[in-house]
Amino acid sequence: MRALLTKIEQNTRLDRVGDRLQRAVQATLRPQRVRDLLHGVWLGHPLHPAMVQVPVGAWISAAVLDVLPGQQRAATTLTTLGTVSALPAAVAGLNDWAALAPDQRRVGLVHAASNTVALAFYAGSVSARLRGRHGLGRALGMMGLGAASMGAYIGGHLAYKQGAQVNQSISELHRMSGGWHPLGDLAALPQRQLITREIDDVSVILYRHGDDVTVMLERCPHQSGPLGEGEVQVVDGHECVVCPWHGSTFRLNGGEVVHGPSGNDQQILPTRVRAGVLEARLP
Ligand code: FES
Repeated sequence: MRALLTKIEQNTRLDRVGDRLQRAVQATLRPQRVRDLLHGVWLGHPLHPAMVQVPVGAWISAAVLDVLPGQQRAATTLTTLGTVSALPAAVAGLNDWAALAPDQRRVGLVHAASNTVALAFYAGSVSARLRGRHGLGRALGMMGLGAASMGAYIGGHLAYKQGAQVNQSISELHRMSGGWHPLGDLAALPQRQLITREIDDVSVILYRHGDDVTVMLERCPHQSGPLGEGEVQVVDGHECVVCPWHGSTFRLNGGEVVHGPSGNDQQILPTRVRAGVLEARLP
């Protein structure tokens, strides 16, 4: 399976389908508000992994009820719940998928295909159960569960091996030593400009507003874009930094994500000023 998934990561022939689907998803989910809602910006975490709990939980529970006597109605209810709830989860997944790197998109395409097959089996299962053909409904449900399990395995590869929608910057903290780190004279810092500095080889950005200075990790949580090369924009009255790669936007006074595709906030470091020198430390 590992070798197969590595081949899928490198299979550029999947890009013909992937590029077309990506354009269709981006054209359909055009409003920024809709995209942010589906990325989980309001939650501070990606939404898709949370949403898939409902269909997966309902389908597994239905499979358990299917082997118990006298549970046909309950199994039909759970199979229907899982099938209906899979649709919004799939839309959130497609929205995340459209902003992934090419190798991640290839694996994501196969993940989506497995889940589409699962959904088709489950739609057939619901239809059969509602017509009283519970034996057929059970069989289709089992096939659906098999396809959904394959989709989940591939989704695990996408998240844990390829790091899709995982916070790409937070591991930087593990390379930073404890204690306070000097970052230069406060008086020498220009107002309202992004400045890049390093703490133990970890790149951070500094943004001074009055006597307050924000110190934030520089690597974008989405895909490690250089926030130090981003623009400062005012969004809803808050100064924010906009990632130059895909436009994720983070408040400079707290690090909250305000626009995706990142579904994660950006890490801010605590600061203090000692003898006129700005210092920062691990949170
Ligand atoms: S790297 Fe994608 S938005 Fe920053």
